[in-house]
Amino acid sequence: MCGISGAVGLNNISELLFEGIKNLEYRGYDSCGVALMKNNRILVKKDIGGVEEFYRKHNVIQLKSKIGIAHTRWATHGKVTQENTHPFISSDGNFAVVHNGIISNYRPLRDKLKKEGFNFRSGTDTEVLAHLLEKFYKCSRNVEKAFIKTLSVIEGTFALAFISSYLPEQIFCAKRESPLMLGIGDEIKFVGSDFNAFIDHTKNAVILDDGEYAILSRDAYVVKSILSEEEVTKPITKIEWDSETSKKGGYPHYMLKEIYEQPQTISNALDLEPSGLDGVVDMFSKARNSYFLGVGTTYYVAKYAKYIFSQLSQEFFPSISSDEFQALANVDKHSLVFCASQSGETFDTLSALKHAKSKGARIAAVVNVMGSSIARLVDKVIIQGSGPEICVISTKAALSQMVILTLLAMKLALKKKVITRKTYNQHLQALRELPEIIQGVLNERSGFIHRLASKYSASRNWLYLGRGVYYPIALEAALKMKEVAYVHAEGMPGGFLKHGTLAMIDDDVFSIVFVPPPEDKVLYESTLHSIEEIRARSGFVLGIHFTPQGKNQDLYSEELILPKVPPLVAPLVQLVIGQLFAYFTAISLKRNIDKPRFLAKSVTVA
Ligand code: F6R
Repeated sequence: MCGISGAVGLNNISELLFEGIKNLEYRGYDSCGVALMKNNRILVKKDIGGVEEFYRKHNVIQLKSKIGIAHTRWATHGKVTQENTHPFISSDGNFAVVHNGIISNYRPLRDKLKKEGFNFRSGTDTEVLAHLLEKFYKCSRNVEKAFIKTLSVIEGTFALAFISSYLPEQIFCAKRESPLMLGIGDEIKFVGSDFNAFIDHTKNAVILDDGEYAILSRDAYVVKSILSEEEVTKPITKIEWDSETSKKGGYPHYMLKEIYEQPQTISNALDLEPSGLDGVVDMFSKARNSYFLGVGTTYYVAKYAKYIFSQLSQEFFPSISSDEFQALANVDKHSLVFCASQSGETFDTLSALKHAKSKGARIAAVVNVMGSSIARLVDKVIIQGSGPEICVISTKAALSQMVILTLLAMKLALKKKVITRKTYNQHLQALRELPEIIQGVLNERSGFIHRLASKYSASRNWLYLGRGVYYPIALEAALKMKEVAYVHAEGMPGGFLKHGTLAMIDDDVFSIVFVPPPEDKVLYESTLHSIEEIRARSGFVLGIHFTPQGKNQDLYSEELILPKVPPLVAPLVQLVIGQLFAYFTAISLKRNIDKPRFLAKSVTVA
């Protein structure tokens, strides 16, 4: 959702800024730009397109400077054009600003500034910031005071940074509801939307809170409250991620790399400190009503949790898409709201949690990014330890969250004595086998899935069917197909089909069915009924199943046979197949795998 990167140092920082926004490109990638201080004057270069293309085309690396800010954009206000690309400079050229978020009152501000003679060159909300800084500087002749005044008149959400030729060795930045952090190195300071902006250069970060601003110079930094203008003492957060994990490491795409990292990320999830998980289980057991939340993929994680908790702990917990939470849920101090979020910054989820908190509910989360807004807001957080997920499409983070939620459901069931210790241990053993099972599936089935995906890549309509806990798996696998391959894929419970959608079955509609292992007798048989319904209408069915070769041979048009696995983990294994099928379809269709069109990771706007 737009990436901000800034650096001020002893030596040339042009290349560091390039690396910074390159590492943030997953947050937005329709256009990018940079503002550098050269001989006390601001030089701005910007263009539509990706970071590498922009740097090459404008030869930006050659523009040496010791201080600068850069931005990679995901358009919200204003089309994708060079004029609408950040940074924006003030009319007099003395301020250059980059911004993430939405200035909600930008229209009246812009109209007023225009009347006062300020010259607007873009259709964005951000440009008002540059002109406001100029305007207020003219009154006070003080950059910091002009900044405070600007912050006091803008409404909405922001993470912003600017440089000014009046103070050519400093970067100013501030935040409200959009993430921003500082990187603290020796003789170099950074500002970034997240750790990836500077992880290669320092592991010491200062995470800004809402209502704070900071001033950075080569040797020092200060954080202050916007309201009181007083200095705030901030702790240094040590980044635990290894910068190497953020690299592609020989894989053609981050998506594939991250799918292949899943055996490791699941092991990490299973090795989490038990006391952290037990604390959350305690919250579930004490709450009178609990809700699972998430959006997009994490909504499907929440939906998975609904099934697995209902199944294991024999208690119904609703799942709600975060954006619908306020319209639906009625929470109070007896409620628990538990969310899943990879980034920990998603606006819809953050808003739902804040709403729940304002009503007195307890709130908890499983989050991948330490120090993120959600991680800091909730009463209890589980940091899942999956490492950076760079591809815009979530894979490893979602699967690890599902594993953690399975573990929480088992722990709650044990605490409530609805399962015995023996059953708990059997389930735990099943989870412990999962990394190896997935490794085997990746090693032995990828080639087959690749061929299958190529063969059917021209199919434009897919129905993804699953029953019970396989339904959220079908939904999530369908979402992967939509977002990476831009192919229509509709996830649906198997039983739902005959209530309408069956009418669609023809030569242009393909179905993929997630079949449970036969040991899961009721679910297995009802899933086979759904398949029969399609086949009876001559529909195409790709069955992903665990039944030995030769059994039910005529049932499927195509089949992908998986090894026998414990039923508890079978849906998770099938999700990996769904991820690979979407990936290889997108490869055949030559899609932009890690940065699909129109999307951005970490959606920090409403
Ligand atoms: C899909 C995807 C999105 C995110 C959603 C929530 O692959 O990544 O649907 O799951 O935007 O994001 P987080 O998990 O960061 O809260």
